[in-house]
Amino acid sequence: MSQLKPISHLDNIPSTPGKFKLEKSQPYIHRLRFHTSLSKLTLWSSFFLVFILFYYVLSSPSPSLPSRRSLNDSWGGPSWEKRVTRSAQRRSSHGLTVLVTGAAGFVGTHVSIALKRRGDGVLGLDNFNHYYEPQLKRDRQKLLERNGVFVVEGDINDSSLLKKLFDVVAFSHIMHLAAQAGVRYAMQNPGSYVHSNIAGFVNILEVCKSVNPQPAIVWASSSSVYGLNSKVPFSEKDRTDQPASLYAATKKAGEEIAHTYNHIYGLSITGLRFFTVYGPWGRPDMAYFFFTKDILKGKPITIFEAPDHGSVARDFTYIDDVVKGCVAALDTAKKSTGSGGKKGGPAQLRIFNLGNTSPVPVSELVNILEKLLKVKAKKKVLPMPRNGDVKFTHANISLAHKELRYKPETDLETGLKKFVRWYLSYYPGSGKKSSW
Ligand SMILES: NC(=O)c1ccc[n+]([C@@H]2O[C@H](COP(=O)([O-])OP(=O)(O)OC[C@H]3O[C@@H](n4cnc5c(N)ncnc54)[C@H](O)[C@@H]3O)[C@@H](O)[C@H]2O)c1
Repeated sequence: MSQLKPISHLDNIPSTPGKFKLEKSQPYIHRLRFHTSLSKLTLWSSFFLVFILFYYVLSSPSPSLPSRRSLNDSWGGPSWEKRVTRSAQRRSSHGLTVLVTGAAGFVGTHVSIALKRRGDGVLGLDNFNHYYEPQLKRDRQKLLERNGVFVVEGDINDSSLLKKLFDVVAFSHIMHLAAQAGVRYAMQNPGSYVHSNIAGFVNILEVCKSVNPQPAIVWASSSSVYGLNSKVPFSEKDRTDQPASLYAATKKAGEEIAHTYNHIYGLSITGLRFFTVYGPWGRPDMAYFFFTKDILKGKPITIFEAPDHGSVARDFTYIDDVVKGCVAALDTAKKSTGSGGKKGGPAQLRIFNLGNTSPVPVSELVNILEKLLKVKAKKKVLPMPRNGDVKFTHANISLAHKELRYKPETDLETGLKKFVRWYLSYYPGSGKKSSW
């Protein structure tokens, strides 16, 4: 049988190169083996490197890592920039141009709409995290869009996004509301508080200090900074060095960080200590919200009592009153004095309580809800666990009244009536027996 001649040297190479045998020239064989193994190693290392690179790029930003531009980012491009510009367009030259962080949140939605309605330019920013039902945030986003407010999806830790936003719009003010809220969740996910309330806030301030002109900043601190303070009502002059939760500690840290950036860079900064804000489009993790849900479902609710059977009370503050306080803080904020990272002179630094000045026991909150929902609650009374909650809150608002003309007007029953009306329309079928 005649043998077929190989058409080229390549035909001699079998599919398993390791088994390739040559009769002559042993050193050549060794060199070839060495080269083959080397190229195999290089090939596999390259595969491995490419895999690692892909994983790094595609993985979502971890709360403990700084954000990076990834394939998941939904910002950038001419039509995106057009939406940003249009949303931030103010109606008159006297209006403000405000970046609202946490815009798809409870307070952020209300503040953004109030500003937009009076003619200010408003752009929202929110990372739509899953701390509570994301659908509620998406529905708030739709409401904002109907009111002409575009919400950019992104994280406050993303410096390149923030810089881009400042490239496109010269914001006169930042209303910084993005945060990891909630006291009890800190025991499950402490990192999220550090990520949003500390690292995120510093990132916002870093970008604000560098831009020219620097914006004035109004941001949400919290009544929780009063912690174990027992002097009532809580005044801005009272001690705030005994936080009872990590949430409170991160808000207190925010106040100190604000002081630093004001001192070094001349940023005008106003902190607002909100007291238990409630109302339509509220937060499902708050008692008035989940009590309503559970009462309507016939599920038992737990009411905590303080030691010695004392009642737990909150200075519940209706959302519209808080919004007025936020808008007044923006309107009275003086300009930052620095530019391009350099301080130009002393700048405004303020802290205000925004509360209602009339604490109501949680048991009374439940009585009002029972009346409005026409359903008797199944109550379990338990001693308050040590999970970060405090016994009571009570705001002294004289400073806010003096400087912001802040004057809360909604009592708890009136505010809850509005909340329950919204709740029943937002969750149709959840209850049919309400009293109006
Ligand atoms: N509601 C209250 O009773 C109350 C009381 C005291 C203080 N506050 C403070 O007021 C602010 C607003 O509170 P809220 O009740 O509207 O809470 P919320 O949770 O409804 O709103 C916060 C929003 O910020 C967004 N967010 C969180 N981390 C972010 C990040 N890293 N980047 C971008 N977006 C992020 C969330 O997705 C959310 O939509 C918060 O700073 C909160 O701590 C609220």
